[in-house]
Amino acid sequence: MKTQSCNTTTEQELGQCFDRAKAQIGVDEAMLLVTRLLGVSFTELYTERGRVLSLPVVETLNRAVQRRLCGEPIAYITGYKMFRTLDLQVSPDVLIPRFETELLVDVVLDLTADRGRVLDLGTGSGAIAIALSKFRELQVVAVDNDERALQVCAENCKEHEATVEMVRSNWFENVRGRFDTIVSNPPYVAADDPHLDEGDLRFEPPSALVGGLSGLEHLEEIIHSAMNFLNPGGWLVIEHGYDQQTSVKKMFADRGYSNIQQRRDYTDTPRVMWGRAHGR
Ligand SMILES: C[S@@+](CC[C@H](N)C(=O)[O-])C[C@H]1O[C@@H](n2cnc3c(N)ncnc32)[C@H](O)[C@@H]1O
Repeated sequence: MKTQSCNTTTEQELGQCFDRAKAQIGVDEAMLLVTRLLGVSFTELYTERGRVLSLPVVETLNRAVQRRLCGEPIAYITGYKMFRTLDLQVSPDVLIPRFETELLVDVVLDLTADRGRVLDLGTGSGAIAIALSKFRELQVVAVDNDERALQVCAENCKEHEATVEMVRSNWFENVRGRFDTIVSNPPYVAADDPHLDEGDLRFEPPSALVGGLSGLEHLEEIIHSAMNFLNPGGWLVIEHGYDQQTSVKKMFADRGYSNIQQRRDYTDTPRVMWGRAHGR
């Protein structure tokens, strides 16, 4: 990425602005900014290069490019991130949904019968909960302990006409009833992990990333408590860190889950584990 700055002070042509953004942050991200922030379609980018943009519009684009050059995630600048086929609103109050988390949704859809009751713990933008409720007829409850995250989730539910019950809760504290499947992508990064000072993670809420000193604290609490909230034979499906497979498998086994299985993500990294509650 080049780091030159751009001090435009007059109105400019669309093509000129796009080319400058492209030179600074690359074609893909420049396209995202121009289409999202200026409301210009991909086609117009090429057919209306001569369209004159007003100074405020030019400045909006320039500011966005500068934010990107400072390392801010493109999703926070545009306010959107794709998750499966859903265009989801995101803000710095929520984790930016990851591609690998789409795997959790696949696994839950495989394991859960129609009209099943599903709990998404730590819903953030609502990515998992909304995807589940859109792709299958399920009763979905979404939990987060952060009110701002639940507001983002509510906006996304509204935008996608998804029926999700939202509960503000410290994990299971305010959760009532039992579920056929419990799914969670909890914070699982160790507090001293140097990755927290790199890339997108620098801009994301620590409360969505850090799982205590070891990184395993939330995973342990969820794996332990979920057994009390699952129907007999229900499933717990969780995402974990690249190096946590052995510890997480032991937690599942120690708590008495059966049929423990795992799946690797697109980079061949162990990422998702699930197990069955006893009783059926
Ligand atoms: C890794 S993010 C996952 C967000 C979303 N599910 C996703 O996959 O994009 C973890 C989420 O757990 C929430 N969280 C952290 N501690 C929590 C707690 N004690 N109780 C409930 N939610 C919590 C955070 O606010 C955050 O939204």
